[in-house]
Amino acid sequence: MSTATSPIESVLVENRVFPPPAGFSAKAAVSGMDQYQALCTEAEKDYQGYWARLARENVVWTKPFTQVLDDSNAPFFRWFADGELNASANCLDRHIGTPVEHKTAIIFEADDGQVTKVTYRELLERVSQFANALKAHGVQKGDRVLIYMPMTIEGVVAMQACARIGATHSVVFGGFSAKAVQERIVDVGASVVVTANYQMRGGKELPLKAIVDEALALGGCEGVRHVFVYERTPTACAMVAGRDKTFGEVLQGQSTECAPVAVEAEHPLFILYTSGSTGKPKGVQHATGGYMLWARQTVNWTFDLKDSDVFWCTADIGWITGHTYVAYGPLAAGATQIVFEGVPTYPNAGRFWQMIERHGCTIFYTAPTAIRSLIKAADSDEKVHPKNWNLSSLRLLGSVGEPINPEAWMWYHKHVGGERCPIVDTFWQTENGGHMITPLPGATPLVPGSCTLPLPGIAAAIVDEAGNDMPDGAGGILVVKKPWPSMIRTIWGDPERFKKSYFPEELKGYYLAGDGAVRSADRGYFRITGRIDDVLNVSGHRMGTMEIESALVAKTDLVAEAAVVGRPDDLTGEAICAFVVLKRGRPHGEEAKQIAKELRDWVAKEIGPIAKPKDIRFGENLPKTRSGKIMRRLLRSLAKGEAITQDTSTLENPAILEQLADTH
Ligand code: PRX
Repeated sequence: MSTATSPIESVLVENRVFPPPAGFSAKAAVSGMDQYQALCTEAEKDYQGYWARLARENVVWTKPFTQVLDDSNAPFFRWFADGELNASANCLDRHIGTPVEHKTAIIFEADDGQVTKVTYRELLERVSQFANALKAHGVQKGDRVLIYMPMTIEGVVAMQACARIGATHSVVFGGFSAKAVQERIVDVGASVVVTANYQMRGGKELPLKAIVDEALALGGCEGVRHVFVYERTPTACAMVAGRDKTFGEVLQGQSTECAPVAVEAEHPLFILYTSGSTGKPKGVQHATGGYMLWARQTVNWTFDLKDSDVFWCTADIGWITGHTYVAYGPLAAGATQIVFEGVPTYPNAGRFWQMIERHGCTIFYTAPTAIRSLIKAADSDEKVHPKNWNLSSLRLLGSVGEPINPEAWMWYHKHVGGERCPIVDTFWQTENGGHMITPLPGATPLVPGSCTLPLPGIAAAIVDEAGNDMPDGAGGILVVKKPWPSMIRTIWGDPERFKKSYFPEELKGYYLAGDGAVRSADRGYFRITGRIDDVLNVSGHRMGTMEIESALVAKTDLVAEAAVVGRPDDLTGEAICAFVVLKRGRPHGEEAKQIAKELRDWVAKEIGPIAKPKDIRFGENLPKTRSGKIMRRLLRSLAKGEAITQDTSTLENPAILEQLADTH
């Protein structure tokens, strides 16, 4: 572990400050720093009392809890453990009999622009019917269901239906490969897979069911009894008799009523795979009670949700952001939300702005990568600049997934937010369940590029490698000192790895986020400086360098050795750079280009297109110390195209640096 923050970085102080607009604060859930401070003080004085209050206010319990935090088996913390609830009832049934019952829950816009709307009542009926279909196919409380679906109402329905009967879902992003799907099916022990025949993205029909078939054929998936197939398009796909059924078939004759199954607060609501610095992706397990508390509370605090809002989080349900801020949080809060099937650049890069205008979106939450690519598009084509649309409905903007550079922040603020919308730069992770460090739009003065302050009750801090607090202005390791309700409970099937990854002994039992951070000397604001482990963030997607290395060396006919590092990229934040030693010797010219392409396609097949290295360099060897350790710091410099200033005296074969600097 090493800190990525150099003292020089902390000198780069961003000094523009944007106080919350007065009109916004007056009506906000948290309307000023005094109120924020009061909440922080409440949490400090009586930590458990604070969380118990929020748990009672945000969650509908079928059996009230009497215990709050159980830390007797730390770091396997338990929250509200004797309470019972149902997550789907917390999103749907709670609104029945209130004015929200007939309010639009989801405005779905398909890739081709077609719009479908469902009310809360209709969504409840669809979820119940799907839940009955799962039950009819033998799915019970505690069973795992793997969901490999496009962004659709049906995807949300499948997640909610699992929650309704106490089944644990594991959603896999539709861009992952057959191999990645198979690994997750095996690891999670899924008995049912829910998928679609195809997905529509950017006008193209892309297969999903065929990938599931391929995954199941890879072996180890004998536990999968059924595959439910949503017929997204009229095009037929192969179906295995007895195993595969269309949604039409499984829903046929099922009642639209299904009593929600009450589960213990600690019951696993879902398992979501994410990359770590070592080994295969880890199944992050979340508990029902604590997660639901924070999903709803953060929608109310960070997004200041009002009944009249039209909320839009552009994240896919395959990521944590799509779980908390599409499938659960907005529904628990009774919001009207937009769900979008397509991509921001189809039919042109004005799609987001056009959709904001069309649906009167008031709160818009997206990733810096999307903003950066739309800036680039608007710069080269006036016609897709946001100024061409009426975006006056917007009142709040959000950012998530990676650091937002101040230039992108300013553009977003000016051209999308019309200089009137606060921007919440929300820092959090798959393991956190919901927002951790973020501005509150009616309270926090904003500084571009800073996620500002931890939410009340979140004990975020910056420490050195021994867990000692760092002074403001000095960078260090981001930790959370106290457990919180929506935190990861364990890594599915690997409690030891959970302990090692997140609670290393030297850090005094603090939760290790894996990011470096620095607090500003003037305001104590946090700025995230990036991962301190071997995890990359490419377009807001998390990827382990080791995962990509393993994929490369799995091409055994070609690759002898591979090392992967990240390098800064203007558009995607980070880009993947792979250094490869071939079995057949170092290729040159056309041959090198051709093999690089072959390797990229291979990685896309092994993991998914998002893991394709942007840059592949070939050498006769990798830079290693005499003891055989790969010198990654040198590789990082080479990837950036920097001159090597590091000490190379321990290097076995200095000549290969020149080879690896060559981008062919
Ligand atoms: O490096 C941080 C970055 O994304 C990582 C978490 O990735 P994931 O689990 O996929 O969740 C992403 C969406 C919640 C973090 O360790 N990250 C996330 N949000 C921010 C961020 N970096 C800087 N600023 C943010 N707002």
